[in-house]
Amino acid sequence: MQATLNILGAGKLARTLARLWHQQRSFALQQCYSRRYQSARQCCDFAGAGRAISTLDDFDTADVWLLATPDRAIAETAQQLAAQRLVRPGDIVFHCSGVQTAQSLQPLQSAGAHTASVHPLHSFADPAASIRSFAGSYCAAEGQAAALQRLLPAFESIDARIVTIEASAKPLYHAGSVIACNYLVALLEASLQSFAAAQIPRRMAAQMLLPIVHNTVDNALGGSPEQALTGPIARGDVDTVATQLAQLQAAAPQLLALYRTLGLQTVAIAARQNAASDTALRQLEALLKKDPPADEN
Ligand SMILES: NC(=O)c1ccc[n+]([C@@H]2O[C@H](COP(=O)([O-])OP(=O)(O)OC[C@H]3O[C@@H](n4cnc5c(N)ncnc54)[C@H](OP(=O)(O)O)[C@@H]3O)[C@@H](O)[C@H]2O)c1
Repeated sequence: MQATLNILGAGKLARTLARLWHQQRSFALQQCYSRRYQSARQCCDFAGAGRAISTLDDFDTADVWLLATPDRAIAETAQQLAAQRLVRPGDIVFHCSGVQTAQSLQPLQSAGAHTASVHPLHSFADPAASIRSFAGSYCAAEGQAAALQRLLPAFESIDARIVTIEASAKPLYHAGSVIACNYLVALLEASLQSFAAAQIPRRMAAQMLLPIVHNTVDNALGGSPEQALTGPIARGDVDTVATQLAQLQAAAPQLLALYRTLGLQTVAIAARQNAASDTALRQLEALLKKDPPADEN
């Protein structure tokens, strides 16, 4: 028989997982609660299963509970759920935070539930798109063995790839995902702003960048950063970098701090390539570190 699943917090991640699990018959979605009833209803509509409820009192018991609120609300929601005394010894309770651990669910653990966290390394920006692209995503899991034994096959049923992680390592693991995923978005926005300052329209700039960005990601992660790095810093072109700093200063000063910080990171990679001369790399480092003129900030 299918295990029953109740959901608290009906946002992007919950909608995606609920629909995928319903499609694969991994769980029978039972009830869904969210801060706003409308969100719970939208989650059930999107999943094609389950019943939206408006208060915690309306929950029935379930084998598995997913707390998919924002991270800041997980501990409080766990306390509220524990106070309902609905979660039975042996039930599974989990959340999907990248930084919090199963320990955030302590009040439910005290009630006898088995707890875990399973963080999908996937950007759930648009649940309709995530339905198509989730397969193959890695998920970092930690928690009680009894909980993982039940949850991991459910994640595998929707083609997730599981990596186990130490609870204490989660903040650094998550910082790595934030840099690669969230900061990549910010980095691309900065790049588009620089193209805009060069009078290249956003849409055209995005088209121009798409192949080279894909290519660079493939080279850096499929090979190594040292293999992937090209450009003025890798070549030791001090004058080019000086010109770019001056032009950014004049036309897009909001990008200067980012250019300098990532430039220094790039010098460190270039040093490991052994292509540019030590002198050029030292000059680049000095140039990028040089105190900006007063009006740069
Ligand atoms: N988004 C991602 O790419 C991603 C990736 C990996 C992991 N995660 C993790 O997945 C979890 C959910 O993230 P998300 O992106 O799905 O967030 P989200 O889209 O903001 O959805 C969170 C949902 O919880 C509801 N909510 C807020 N406070 C609540 C409370 N106290 N009680 C009940 N419901 C509450 C929200 O409000 P309303 O009811 O008002 O709509 C919303 O529907 C987080 O732990 C996050 O770290 C997210």
